[in-house]
Amino acid sequence: MCGIVAYIGHREACPIILKGLRRLEYRGYDSAGVALLNGNLNVYKKKGKVSDLENFLSDKDTHSTIGMGHTRWATHGEPNDSNAHPHYSNSSRIAIIHNGIIENYSTLKTLLQSKGYTFYSDTDTEVFINLIENIQDENNCKLDEAVRLALHEVVGAYAIVVLSKDEPNQLIAARKGSPLVIGVGQDEYFLASDATPIIEYTNNVVYVNDYEIAIIKDGELNIKTREDIPTTPYVQTLALELDSIEKGGYDHFMLKEIFEQPRSIHDSMRGRLIAAQNHLIMGGFREFENKFVNAKRIIIVACGTSWHAGLVAEYLIEDLARIPVEVEYASEFRYRNPIITEDDIVIAISQSGETADTLAAIELAKQKGATIFGICNVVGSSIARASHAGAYTHAGPEIGVASTKAFTAQVTVLTLLAMIIGSKRGTIETSKLRSLMIELENIPSKVEQALEMHDKVIEIAEELKDATNALYLGRGYNFPVALEGALKLKEISYIHAEGYPAAEMKHGPIALIDENMPVIVIATKDSSYEKIVSNIQEVKARKGRIIAIVTEGDKVIPAMAEHVIEVPATSEYLVPLLSVIPLQLLSYHIAVMRGCNVDQPRNLAKSVTVE
Ligand code: F6R
Repeated sequence: MCGIVAYIGHREACPIILKGLRRLEYRGYDSAGVALLNGNLNVYKKKGKVSDLENFLSDKDTHSTIGMGHTRWATHGEPNDSNAHPHYSNSSRIAIIHNGIIENYSTLKTLLQSKGYTFYSDTDTEVFINLIENIQDENNCKLDEAVRLALHEVVGAYAIVVLSKDEPNQLIAARKGSPLVIGVGQDEYFLASDATPIIEYTNNVVYVNDYEIAIIKDGELNIKTREDIPTTPYVQTLALELDSIEKGGYDHFMLKEIFEQPRSIHDSMRGRLIAAQNHLIMGGFREFENKFVNAKRIIIVACGTSWHAGLVAEYLIEDLARIPVEVEYASEFRYRNPIITEDDIVIAISQSGETADTLAAIELAKQKGATIFGICNVVGSSIARASHAGAYTHAGPEIGVASTKAFTAQVTVLTLLAMIIGSKRGTIETSKLRSLMIELENIPSKVEQALEMHDKVIEIAEELKDATNALYLGRGYNFPVALEGALKLKEISYIHAEGYPAAEMKHGPIALIDENMPVIVIATKDSSYEKIVSNIQEVKARKGRIIAIVTEGDKVIPAMAEHVIEVPATSEYLVPLLSVIPLQLLSYHIAVMRGCNVDQPRNLAKSVTVE
């Protein structure tokens, strides 16, 4: 988590850094700070949002063309001014910003304390900068060498930028495990955790690799490894548009991203599906076609919403391609000595492509010889690069912390994948495949129709906004949607919510139901429709308040439910792409009505780069 930005060039650094921090605020927002180099090395930092830092800076002299900034998601030490980044070394000669966690900070801290160092914060980062200073002093070396040597001492994850008052016109950065992108402009460089702070200045970027150190000095970028071997920076051109990272007239990024779904789903199919031409391909799949076709098992690893997309994929792949699928929380998978063989395919799903647990699960599976297929949204992200093959979801930047359009894009790509594997394995009839292709191609317009229920959702949100609990029920393909609906409500409105397979309710949660318990039932017309109607009766008999997501034209459930929200009819395989839409809108409006910060919910960050 945490966002880092730095600039070195000929423009005023501070406005560029602050704007960049606002773009990265989704990564953490409990405190923020900047360091500016202008003869002196000045650090300004504040608990709170980037806007609090901006107010704090309003009467300061911020003139400088070299600087760095940080927006924090606390790991070591509570959010306060002294734990905010940047951190000075004891001499205040050098300063650092850091995204990641130094696992052996406590040992290093004790060592440095024994050498007379004092610590003014509770952070691992302050240990890091003092380690660099100590190495520089003991070896009487340049800063880049001290940083390089320090990287051999620290264990953990980092993307860092270091500035020194004694070596002006220079900025040093390094990475392992946390993302770091360098924008290459005309005699200027921009560094950031992702490309969004960079894109309005340049499309040319270099992704720094693990264990690399970037030294930008006197207008030149040099990269070397931790072993002191120079590498050639690989400059890529990004296709990211500035418009896609602005709110575009919406009150919140989340709402914008919900309404973008007809387009983002369409984009995730672009070039992959043209039903009229019987065209169904996925570039990343081709090279590993034989592996997929002959796979005895597929393991899916992911976290949070991406894990829910993985559950949908389990149903799809088992049904359409007849390969057994196991869906694992990446965080559990890696710590339980799982059985993985060279015949296994591991699909890693991640919006950010930076989730530490998912990345670590991939590394474990790779060591055991499995083939890794990454499904990521962020182009060039660590998971995309660590995978043997994969497919981008092309949903465009997702800024709202609660994942919405990334989920539907993931489900779309996974549906395409299941269809492709099924067709190659001959486990899906041609006529069924054809009609599914046509229906999937039509899904964006059906999502548009589902979004038309917006006003009805607002009416329901008004009624539910004061609830303290909620239960989400679904069966089959709608069970993962129930989990996703509950997660959305929890994370942005802080209402406790549980998602359950509807039939499991009578094994426990039914005890919770009374006239105060809202029960959101996803009850579209599919193979378990009759069963879920019975489950609704069970809730009704206990006076639960039923809000049902139904298929357009349903006459049965409206007679039983307090509220219904209709979604268009579609194939059972595709229903999650529609049934999740009202649930996203419902959580959004409830959160807004409760006065919650929808795009930046408390304690959360968009990219979970710590384990
Ligand atoms: C929920 C949410 C999180 C993420 C999870 C995985 O709305 O955003 O649960 O889905 O942290 O993140 P990625 O997909 O980036 O690996």
